[in-house]
Amino acid sequence: MKGKGNTLIVGLTWGDEAKGKIVDLLAAEHDIVVRYNGGNNAGHTVAFGGQTYKLHLVPSGIFHKSTTCVIGGGVVVDPKVLLEEISRHEAVAPRLRQRLLVSSRAHAIWPWHRKIEELSEKHQGKGKIGTTLRGIGPAYADKANRVHAIRLGEFLRPEHLRKKVERIVENRNQAFVKLFGEPGLDAAAVWREYAAYGEAIRPMIADTTAYLLAALDKGQRILFEGAQGTLLDIDHGTYPYVTSSSASAAGAWPGSGVPARAIGEILGVVKAYTTRVGEGPFPTELKDALGDQIRQQGHEYGTTTGRPRRCGWLDTFAIRYSARLNGIDGIAITLLDVLGGLPELKICTGYTVDGKALAEFPDDPAALEQARPVLEDLDPWTEDVSGVRKFKDLPRAARAYVKRVEEIIGAPVRLISVGPDREQTIRRR
Ligand code: IMP
Repeated sequence: MKGKGNTLIVGLTWGDEAKGKIVDLLAAEHDIVVRYNGGNNAGHTVAFGGQTYKLHLVPSGIFHKSTTCVIGGGVVVDPKVLLEEISRHEAVAPRLRQRLLVSSRAHAIWPWHRKIEELSEKHQGKGKIGTTLRGIGPAYADKANRVHAIRLGEFLRPEHLRKKVERIVENRNQAFVKLFGEPGLDAAAVWREYAAYGEAIRPMIADTTAYLLAALDKGQRILFEGAQGTLLDIDHGTYPYVTSSSASAAGAWPGSGVPARAIGEILGVVKAYTTRVGEGPFPTELKDALGDQIRQQGHEYGTTTGRPRRCGWLDTFAIRYSARLNGIDGIAITLLDVLGGLPELKICTGYTVDGKALAEFPDDPAALEQARPVLEDLDPWTEDVSGVRKFKDLPRAARAYVKRVEEIIGAPVRLISVGPDREQTIRRR
């Protein structure tokens, strides 16, 4: 079977599930790691050998020297960030420039994307989305709109691209000046800067779809890396408080260019509690001292923006929805160690609106806004579990917590992470 040996990693909540660690861990068992959605709005953390590395755009498999890393066509690429990230990690990720391929179909993020997003968020006031301000949404909007979009493959034709950039800047400046009363961009300066980036990334630009299809034919193993999480998916998430890409498993097919049936096993990642950054409904949010304690113990501050993350109880009602939507085969639970020492422990098993239990996770943001969590008490534990490597060695209450999650979600917990380092992992068959 074609999909055999391939694995997809997807977040089941609102991102920040520590997928970076899981991708790094499983990259050792795959030949290729492919990022299929989002851009440098993501923040993936990988830790080993006493060092911590933060990644935003390059796949989290870069630290394995024989792994090929692919940025798929579904990703939006800020060329400046790509080059900075390569330079920052090259010393620990040997031959990275030779092992990294960037899809010619991926769209580029330009200064006008960041500027328009900044102005739009500012002018929205209370109605803002709370984006990462990396230009992600405007770049995807241009992709859908087609007229002013630029794919990375166009960097291979600099003269064509120079003229196109001039045309686009002229058009965008009208909006900046006339609508927002802001100064426009200098097309020549933008081109000078980006032409240099284009030269530097040129050797990495490739038809990655053809590359991945050939890899499948050769029986190579592919790991698909989803960024953000299912509840931030443009179609299936808590719209409009979502990102602008397909952040569920559904994005892997268009975002990488391989057939859906090749995708293989799907592993859904959840934190042992739930967090969210930015605006939008979050039924299990703890706006009290307990929420602050989880934030402190879990160091819950955004990898990309540094914003404090909103923290709450594990929302298994939302996760069950995501798990079914993605068709997961197994679960990875991360940051289980963070729950140790909490005075109480609860999980959310359902929602009520006006006292009535909901049958399904709401498709309507207004209903989600009103939803009250149905909470179940579980026994807390006080022990530090960060040194545990076998499931049987976890405290009884921690084992019961994991088993309860499996029971509600209806999928086996395959991996448990008890700390940021690669080694701090419990594997279950
Ligand atoms: P954007 O992706 O920058 O457009 O932001 C849209 C929403 O998605 C905001 O609420 C962001 O905080 C959230 N978001 C985007 N990327 C991530 C991520 O990697 N982790 C968590 N939240 C994210």
